[in-house]
Amino acid sequence: MTSAHQGLSGLLDTEAIRKDFPLLDRVVHDGKKIVYLDSAATSQKPRQVLDALNTYYERHNANVHRGVYTVAEEATALYEGARDKVAAFINAPSRDEVIFTKNASESLNLVANMLGWADEPYRVDHETEIAITEMEHHSNIVPWQLLSQRTGAKLKWFGLTDDGRLDLSNIEEVITEKTKIVSFTLVSNLLGTVNPVETIIRRAQEVGALVCIDASQAAPHMVLDVQALQADFVAFTGHKMCGPTGIGVLWGRQELLEDLPPFLGGGEMIETVSMHSSTYAPAPHKFEAGTPPIAQAVGLGAAVDYLSAIGMENIARHEHAITEYAVRRLQEVPDLRIIGPTTAEDRGAAISFTLGDIHPHDVGQVLDEEGIAVRVGHHCARPVCLRYGIPATTRASFYLYSTPAEVDALVAGLEHVRNFFG
Ligand code: ALA
Repeated sequence: MTSAHQGLSGLLDTEAIRKDFPLLDRVVHDGKKIVYLDSAATSQKPRQVLDALNTYYERHNANVHRGVYTVAEEATALYEGARDKVAAFINAPSRDEVIFTKNASESLNLVANMLGWADEPYRVDHETEIAITEMEHHSNIVPWQLLSQRTGAKLKWFGLTDDGRLDLSNIEEVITEKTKIVSFTLVSNLLGTVNPVETIIRRAQEVGALVCIDASQAAPHMVLDVQALQADFVAFTGHKMCGPTGIGVLWGRQELLEDLPPFLGGGEMIETVSMHSSTYAPAPHKFEAGTPPIAQAVGLGAAVDYLSAIGMENIARHEHAITEYAVRRLQEVPDLRIIGPTTAEDRGAAISFTLGDIHPHDVGQVLDEEGIAVRVGHHCARPVCLRYGIPATTRASFYLYSTPAEVDALVAGLEHVRNFFG
């Protein structure tokens, strides 16, 4: 730590934490160690998770809920044990409210399709309205567009203020008596904005609309308590929170999961099947057709153990300090414009910016030569770029293993980019 970092408080012991993440030791260019600033796209994986995956495959691999032999029972216990861990991690009232999916996109599509096939009182039709926001990831826009196209429902959204926050000034026009579902992100993947959940949920409850929260950029970084949130559905993915790819979560309120129809049909999700009709297993199995992502769920369970041992409050505090420092340092770079909140308040650890008129792809390329990994593009949130009149951004995102020295490396790398492009 240099003297510039002295004032930073709440930092984790990253020296110890980074030893758990083999990839952070990678050398990428001319002996330069990787500076990994793309955790909003996917986090790196600690050895504890990699070991859990290996052990599962080496010692316990079998299909779940089927075999009566020892290894199959072990596989089932590990898979269902992961569900218990996730339920505790998000403070779910019941483990049966935790559905495993492939990723957050599948979780959000599942909600849209449960509603798409539902009868009254959940039925979505041409008299229904659906509310989202302009800062959503495509995975929380396209499923609702598809549902609207299929049912004739009207899709509405909250716009954005110039400083990257939701414009809720017309909340009563966006969420009306006709609104049946309000779906929005807790933390924006492009802007970093943390949204005012309570205000939106209060209005949704006033009109009796269901609330679905995309917590993909929240679950890895803060305490996620589904009971405190008071939403009806919460979606997130495993690979951004130290888990493997191929595993996502949909939490839903028990009575909704009982009432709403399944989307995918097949093995595992049934109670009985005849050639004429079928009855379904209770939730969560009703929504988990086919062989589930067993190893991936086990890996997610290990990730939850890992994060919980460090403590989500401690992780949030660390990221807040890093974000505050990064926002301050980035604003010292000439011609750099942060797209999103320029203070660390109500802000997550993903920071998007433009650098003069240098194209973000060029920024990313020159940074890569310095060993610095950032994401460039529209970040699957193209409407945000359209709103701010830019084709793309460069995004640096931080996690529990990020250090102030890596922020300094980014700032130095950006100086290099500026010099390179004159
Ligand atoms: N949704 C991920 C991101 O924002 C991939 O980068």
